[in-house]
Amino acid sequence: MADNKVYRASTTAPVNIAVIKYWGKRDPKLNLPTNSSLSVTLSQSDLRTHTTASCSPSYPTSDSLLLNGSPQDVSGARTQACFRELRTLRQALEASKPSLPKLSTYPLKIVSENNFPTAAGLASSAAGFAALVRAIADLYELPATPTELSKIARQGSGSACRSLFGGYVGWDKGTAADGSDSVAYEVAPAAHWPAMRAVILVVSAAKKGVSSTTGMQTTVATSSLFPARANETVPRRMKEMETAVKAKDFETFARVTMKDSNSFHATCLDTEPPIFYLNDVSRAAIKVVEEVNKEAGKTVAAYTFDAGPNAVIYYLEESEKEVAGLFKAMLGEKEGWEGARGSKVEANKSALEVVEKEA
Ligand code: ADP
Ligand code: DP6
Ligand code: CO
Repeated sequence: MADNKVYRASTTAPVNIAVIKYWGKRDPKLNLPTNSSLSVTLSQSDLRTHTTASCSPSYPTSDSLLLNGSPQDVSGARTQACFRELRTLRQALEASKPSLPKLSTYPLKIVSENNFPTAAGLASSAAGFAALVRAIADLYELPATPTELSKIARQGSGSACRSLFGGYVGWDKGTAADGSDSVAYEVAPAAHWPAMRAVILVVSAAKKGVSSTTGMQTTVATSSLFPARANETVPRRMKEMETAVKAKDFETFARVTMKDSNSFHATCLDTEPPIFYLNDVSRAAIKVVEEVNKEAGKTVAAYTFDAGPNAVIYYLEESEKEVAGLFKAMLGEKEGWEGARGSKVEANKSALEVVEKEA
């Protein structure tokens, strides 16, 4: 009789928004970055990916991925690398425990939903690949640590390695040629700085014109500003940022965040052909933050933009009125703003279940 058992695990993963940006690959195959980066993981109650991984001997022979209801091509090297590495770990487990079902030999079915715009510069690839890797790791009951999973998720999308951790997260670029030391690490847990808040201003939910992968490779190849950013500016800022987070020094955190966002977008503009991720509404958001800070007489808000026009504003709870309030009032009705959400920065939850049921 044919085995029709279906094995399944579901998880959610949050987005992370970098304050020191990853932009540039030194090894596109292994997805190794030219510089280290640092991000803040946002609350899963706002922007998140929900992913279910299942496998069964009764499934059609090839692996599949359904994203927001649309079938995706899984033959790309990056998705394949994630599947391969996770299967290898499962095989080792099966070899050491022969009573385990041979899940590593069954086709995988991944079903994923993002509750926010995909490919619009709000880190969908980060939450997406973090969720994909963790869902399969749970399905396979792998005893892997977040660090080990971050190494696998990095091969799916670089920024994904940081979404395996909550709070303030670094990604060490590493030096090993095989990428074994290019992993994410915790700088501080979310509870270290519970007053931190982020407001996300969705300027456009449209898919970006130039993907992060393509954009950064063109920047590395053509921008003359880029080497100074990767080799001098970012290493210095990584240290400043880690110190600021550990000391809960918001003014430094905010100043370095804004400078790094501008430096990243400057290298995009310096790319041939130039890449414009910011638009007029993004620039208006920068002006508003400048105004808020001027009125407060100190830096109470910081803007940052990924590879898209959408703004993420970091601030402290004590400045909620000035920052989120003013943003909502000034920009709420403005054309092009689809909404604003307050997001509490919190730890990454990892309550996951593995279910096994008859098909
Ligand atoms: P973003 O700024 O949203 O991260 P990217 O250009 O970096 O945009 O990556 C977008 C791509 O990431 C999508 O086209 C898709 O291939 C992949 N992706 C996004 N969400 C998911 C998901 N939930 N599961 C798997 N892959 C995803
Ligand atoms: C601007 O991680 O999406 O958001 O590794 O090619 O998938 P790939 O790129 P991705 O790049 C993110 C770029 C960024 C900055 C950041 O998140 O650090
Ligand atoms: Co991305």
